[in-house]
Amino acid sequence: MGFSIGKHVFKNQVVSAPMAGVTDKAYRIMAASFGCGLNFTEMISDQALLYGHHKTMAMLDRSQESIPAVVQLFGGQPQNMARAAAIAEEQGAIIIDINMGCPTPKIVRNGEGSALMRDLPRAREIIRAVVKEVKVPVTVKMRKGWDESSVNYLELCRIAEGEGAQAITLHPRTREQFFSGRADWNAIREAKAAVAIPVIGNGDIFEAPDALEMIMNTGCDAVMIGRGALGNPFLFAATASLLNGEAIPPAPTVQQRMQTALQHFDLMDSLKGINRTIAEMRKHLAWYIKGIPGAAQARNRINQATTREEISSILQSLAEGR
Ligand SMILES: Cc1cc2nc3c(=O)[nH]c(=O)nc-3n(C[C@H](O)[C@H](O)[C@H](O)COP(=O)(O)O)c2cc1C
Repeated sequence: MGFSIGKHVFKNQVVSAPMAGVTDKAYRIMAASFGCGLNFTEMISDQALLYGHHKTMAMLDRSQESIPAVVQLFGGQPQNMARAAAIAEEQGAIIIDINMGCPTPKIVRNGEGSALMRDLPRAREIIRAVVKEVKVPVTVKMRKGWDESSVNYLELCRIAEGEGAQAITLHPRTREQFFSGRADWNAIREAKAAVAIPVIGNGDIFEAPDALEMIMNTGCDAVMIGRGALGNPFLFAATASLLNGEAIPPAPTVQQRMQTALQHFDLMDSLKGINRTIAEMRKHLAWYIKGIPGAAQARNRINQATTREEISSILQSLAEGR
């Protein structure tokens, strides 16, 4: 089954989460090729867009991408967010998401990300300003609240809907929890009951059946997958199959995992050049090789490697079990 945001209809209910430092174009192309229906960019700073930083503008580029990508912005000032949204729209963004969930100190210190859940009047102003500024659908991604004593996602869901947001994503942990404990999927069900706009459920989907369980238990319109797909784009394929009522493909062999890792490497190389790729693929490769015998040693070698040949031969040895 598909789902939609505004007039945009997606081919299935599988959404790739925004992840800073991870979900660049190479990642998004990989996710799409494994059957994910909707991508998110990394979070993009409103200020950096306003300054027109080259690297930031490049984050808006969607060429070569076969499925839509939501552009996620973060910031704390309504007018800056609105102007940044206008730039994103001008550059071709078809949906703009506002980050109200990022828990990192650097972000919340500036009143951005999940700090907005401590200041709902400002959150409202930001949504209002962005919705007013652009024609494309605006969505909001949030957590459950700042901490257990200030759980206010339902209020923010209603504010978002009232201000014209066309979907929300809920990662039901508090800011204080960061990634600890378990995502409280009951909150997704409550959000779904509270608003009529689509709700994307997020948090702790590590295997395809988790996604089905989330949809069955909460009624959410789509599922968003973050950490579970790191080094594991196969999860998109498995989840899409399961949600479409098809058989889950067999788990990938080590060879397939290593081939996919190298494919991801080559794709990034073609987009960012070899130097950045060697540096930025380290974390991805560590995720791809996780759990394979010899992974720890291979990771050290990957971190020393300076050429594609070295990376390829390290992956090859893992694939051959030597
Ligand atoms: C490395 C990393 C970077 C992230 N960056 C962002 C981000 O830029 N914007 C955002 O809204 N959430 C970000 N998140 C949160 C994820 O989008 C998602 O809400 C969270 O990981 C829970 O989903 P999961 O359990 O499937 O990982 C990030 C998470 C991780 C692990």
